[in-house]
Amino acid sequence: MDLLPPDRELYRQRRRRVMQAMGEGVMVIATAPEAVRNRDAYYSFRPDSYFWWLSGFAEPEAVVVLVAGKRPRQYLFCREKNIDKETWDGFRWGPKEAKTAFGFDAAWPIGQLDKRLPGLLENQPVLSYLIGHDTAWDNRVVGWLNSVRDKARAGVQAPATLTDARRWLDEFRLFKDDHELAMLRRAIAISADAHRRAMRACRPGAGEHEIEAELLYAFRRGGAEAPAYTSIVAGGANACILHYVFNNRPLQDGDLLLIDAGAEYAGYAADITRTFPVNGRFSPVQRDAYEIVLAAQAAAIAEVKPGSAGNAPHEAAVRVLVQGMKDLKLLKGRLDGLIESGAYRRFYLHRTGHWLGIDVHDAGEYKVDGAWRALQPGMVLTVEPGLYIRPGEGVPRRLENIGIRIEDDVLVTETGCEVLSAATAKTVAAIEETMGGH
Ligand code: GLY
Ligand code: MN
Ligand code: MN
Repeated sequence: MDLLPPDRELYRQRRRRVMQAMGEGVMVIATAPEAVRNRDAYYSFRPDSYFWWLSGFAEPEAVVVLVAGKRPRQYLFCREKNIDKETWDGFRWGPKEAKTAFGFDAAWPIGQLDKRLPGLLENQPVLSYLIGHDTAWDNRVVGWLNSVRDKARAGVQAPATLTDARRWLDEFRLFKDDHELAMLRRAIAISADAHRRAMRACRPGAGEHEIEAELLYAFRRGGAEAPAYTSIVAGGANACILHYVFNNRPLQDGDLLLIDAGAEYAGYAADITRTFPVNGRFSPVQRDAYEIVLAAQAAAIAEVKPGSAGNAPHEAAVRVLVQGMKDLKLLKGRLDGLIESGAYRRFYLHRTGHWLGIDVHDAGEYKVDGAWRALQPGMVLTVEPGLYIRPGEGVPRRLENIGIRIEDDVLVTETGCEVLSAATAKTVAAIEETMGGH
């Protein structure tokens, strides 16, 4: 992620809106800890998603503190400048510069957090943070509260209420602003290019790892930080393992290849799946199965519009998939009965989508007061029906080990929806043409 300052006003405004929603109290959101991979080698640093949404600040060891109320204040704690360390590890903003560049009212060295936080909590009614996200932070918060309570005899009151910051932040994150949509579009465009490369590089005898390498190349070349999640490159029967990530088997002539891969750009995730024949031509049975999943996806996407119940795309996809399972002779019985009994879950065991944003499975409630929430403009979700046919009783031989998922990223608009990942070949004809264009 970029160390450059973001659009300062945009982030300041986001924090202001959060404080307005809170009304009163203090919110404390830390960025992610740095993580050791082995011995003294670290995973590349990636900010906490809530912190990133609130600040656009990419350095480790940083905390945002928002004090809501009549006199709202926005504070940042971050690393101090350190010429020695910067020579080894690169640029640091330091509090003084960060305050201005990132639009805070004040910024202090991260080493002062424990000293200053109790003071900021004095006589505040509410403390809000990501409860249970990190045990070390839970303990630290209790330490601050106890420090404030130590002053009880001086008439100082500690926050009596602890609340989960997610209750405010999730709702904001669910609705993407123009900046977020621009970042998502970029992540998705890079990923579309990566899927195109993968289709073109695919041939019998290639390794799944070689195809994964094409994805990684396209991601980095396009300016993405990294994959948004571990890419799934699953040939043949591996496609029936939903979270297959070994990506180390040779690709066989006559098999399908399922790729679920998306880039992360400026902290925003794409999440795209395509399934295509290793040799570039669908066999008749592969085509039959593929067309069912494609039709299920079309039915689901048709339900992505303002006012639709959040579950409507899933229900539409399931209906088409179950009819398809009947047509393929995988299931026998009445359509409604098969849906009600859940018999179809043998071949379709996941849901049809999820919110998408800074996290691939993004923040946001799916139900409100027990009911699926209605889709609204500005929400972004995936639509990803699949069909996974493991060998077993009653499964015709010719269908064994076919695993298909088709996944697109969809924005709810005022009038319906926009498929943001539409540039990635999806119909049988478009895929065969892309693959034939070696
Ligand atoms: N790639 C993760 C998912 O599709 O949900
Ligand atoms: Mn997904
Ligand atoms: Mn996916």
